[in-house]
Amino acid sequence: MRVLVTGGAGFIGSNLAMALVGESHDVTILDNFSAGNFSNLVKFKGDVICSDCTVQPPGPFDIIFHQASITDTTVTDQNRMMANNVEGFRHVLAWAAAWKARVVWASSAAIYGNSAPPMVESAAPHPLNVYGYSKMVMECVARLWHRQTGLPCIGLRYFNVYGPGEGHKGRFASMIYQLAQQMKAGHRPRIFRDGSQKRDFVWIDDVIQANLKAAEISGGEVFNVGSGISESFNSVIGALNVVMHTNYEPEYIDNPYHFFQKHTEADLAKSIALLSYAPRSGLLEGVREYYGSCAL
Ligand SMILES: NC(=O)c1ccc[n+]([C@@H]2O[C@H](COP(=O)([O-])OP(=O)(O)OC[C@H]3O[C@@H](n4cnc5c(N)ncnc54)[C@H](O)[C@@H]3O)[C@@H](O)[C@H]2O)c1
Repeated sequence: MRVLVTGGAGFIGSNLAMALVGESHDVTILDNFSAGNFSNLVKFKGDVICSDCTVQPPGPFDIIFHQASITDTTVTDQNRMMANNVEGFRHVLAWAAAWKARVVWASSAAIYGNSAPPMVESAAPHPLNVYGYSKMVMECVARLWHRQTGLPCIGLRYFNVYGPGEGHKGRFASMIYQLAQQMKAGHRPRIFRDGSQKRDFVWIDDVIQANLKAAEISGGEVFNVGSGISESFNSVIGALNVVMHTNYEPEYIDNPYHFFQKHTEADLAKSIALLSYAPRSGLLEGVREYYGSCAL
């Protein structure tokens, strides 16, 4: 199949593009390189178009995996966030309609805000920032597009993804990555007081699995993509200490963000039932594999 991966220079897009090449697809990446990094693509065997999502690449493609997005959740410029994420997506959907391509795209657990865990797809959205709001509007645009075109359009609400290829994200990389870097540099890991904030951390291979499965189904649904298990920041430090054979105590600091999610946890019932999604890695297994890959 001819496959287009937008945002393919980024963390998830580059891992996905390489997995698709591994499945013998003809893969083209489109990325404006505003946030991703070329180093993620050194081993990628396919075409790379440096362009914005507003400029149609030469097609047709059979499927689009749309990962491109501003992923800095602290961007408060609403015009920039909405223009890039929502209007960019509208362009991608117009190409898909012209090519009769199916679409699998990245939504986010940011849609849930501080809704009660475990978070279920049918819950009312409650985004706490314009990033989460942009994903909420994208879901609405996707629903309408699917109704109008009848083409498959599957949205995946990723929780906190971690794995090789996220280093360029700096302070927006997963807490697992950030804390590991501090510990490797010989510092006590710094987390917001009192470390009991919980996240559903999902290993990159499970996210790739969800994308590949989503490419096989019809409809216009959204699905949670997490591990289904919520772990505190204190537990992350515990897992890193085990894997790295260290014994660091956390250093607690004040949290400056008012829009911080306190507890995220994916309800996976729908993803398991309709997508046959089966996350394979818990926190300790994922951290062990990550550390073993030398990318952590
Ligand atoms: N990493 C996570 O934990 C997580 C969680 C929830 C949702 N997501 C979503 O998954 C997707 C991938 O995230 P990521 O972690 O790989 O982030 P990333 O920042 O590494 O990748 C995003 C990529 O999109 C590109 N991009 C941004 N705007 C573009 C545009 N208008 N045209 C072309 N390219 C553009 C960037 O250059 C970057 O390479 C995003 O849609 C993000 O919102 C990620």
